[in-house]
Amino acid sequence: MTQLPGLLDTEAIRKDFPILDRVVHDGRKLVYLDNAATSQKPRQVLDALSEYYERYNANVHRGVHVLAEEATALYEGARDKVAEFINAPSRDEVIFTKNASESLNLVANMLGWADEPYRVDQDTEIVITEMEHHSNIVPWQLLAQRTGAKLKWFGLTDDGRLDLSNIDEIITEKTKIVSFVLVSNILGTVNPVETIIRRAQEVGALVCIDASQAAPHMPLDVQALQADFVAFTGHKMCGPTGIGVLWGRQELLEDLPPFLGGGEMIETVSMHSSTYAPAPHKFEAGTPPIAQAVGLGAAIDYLNSIGMDKILAHEHALTEYAVRRLAEVPDLRIIGPTTAEDRGAAISFTLGDIHPHDVGQVLDEQGIAVRVGHHCARPVCLRYGIPATTRASFYLYSSPAEIDALVDGLEHVRNFFG
Ligand code: ALA
Repeated sequence: MTQLPGLLDTEAIRKDFPILDRVVHDGRKLVYLDNAATSQKPRQVLDALSEYYERYNANVHRGVHVLAEEATALYEGARDKVAEFINAPSRDEVIFTKNASESLNLVANMLGWADEPYRVDQDTEIVITEMEHHSNIVPWQLLAQRTGAKLKWFGLTDDGRLDLSNIDEIITEKTKIVSFVLVSNILGTVNPVETIIRRAQEVGALVCIDASQAAPHMPLDVQALQADFVAFTGHKMCGPTGIGVLWGRQELLEDLPPFLGGGEMIETVSMHSSTYAPAPHKFEAGTPPIAQAVGLGAAIDYLNSIGMDKILAHEHALTEYAVRRLAEVPDLRIIGPTTAEDRGAAISFTLGDIHPHDVGQVLDEQGIAVRVGHHCARPVCLRYGIPATTRASFYLYSSPAEIDALVDGLEHVRNFFG
């Protein structure tokens, strides 16, 4: 068995994930390399979800009965866990949403309806990058269309990094918000946050970071990042689907208007007008995703029990190994950084002129699950002149043996297509 320095004891970890024992297609053992799309869930999270429904299920913040109080304590306890996980200065800065897309849409809508000094209008500019997931492009396009603001973006270098050579022309005195991804879901690139934030701060622009592919894989400290908003999702970090997070600086959350109206987000309501509850409740209209938040709390406990720094080291060792092994496959071209430096554990590639959907299908027949397509980041494919990529992505339970299986599988794909 291949041993690499920094690897976790994946044999022990995999025992926590029942689904990883699955066999698919004629008894082939599942090799799950689609972790950037969604992670698998450990028994601890599955148990927390069923325990919640078996013992505590009630609506939160509303009842005076035992179950309502216990459910509220569990839901708010999950908020405490998230706050600690990202080193938020206050638990009131943690807003639960449905997913990272909703978190990013929430920021765009807050700014669209805001008064000065935050208001985005026809005299202002919004800055994103060409490597964003559609969830960090479309909300800003919608906002630009609605307000007349100008949408600008950083382009990409040939090796899959942000081209910041014209940073002073892209981020200007007119920029109201700079929103960018910390780790690209398609290229794997880890972006130079400090450089971008320094320039944004010079011109007084707000900064929003999409940390969907970072929060599951590395320690995340919102105070050290110095952004104004950070968005991520639960299902990529061992939690259930249906729960996302938006962290925002407290004074901003106090000043900015709500987006969705409804129960729970109000202080008082009359037939003429309403006043709003303080953050985070101002931004959580209606019955929230209670069980999902509890599940996310259990996922955070689980990740903490392993250690985020150890998970990062594990994935770094695996990525280094994968980049080395994939270089042995003839005609394989990595789309994104070709070294393990400053990159995450999602590796996109093309294989000669074999269409990625064909690559994915032949790998699937061998029990290997990867994602194919444009990965909701179509501008990246357009930039590199390719229709799609095949993407392998790793997590804390991934092993070098699975990378070997991928490399053997790709050899099979090449033989299959002659
Ligand atoms: N954003 C997810 C991915 O990159 C779905 O696959």
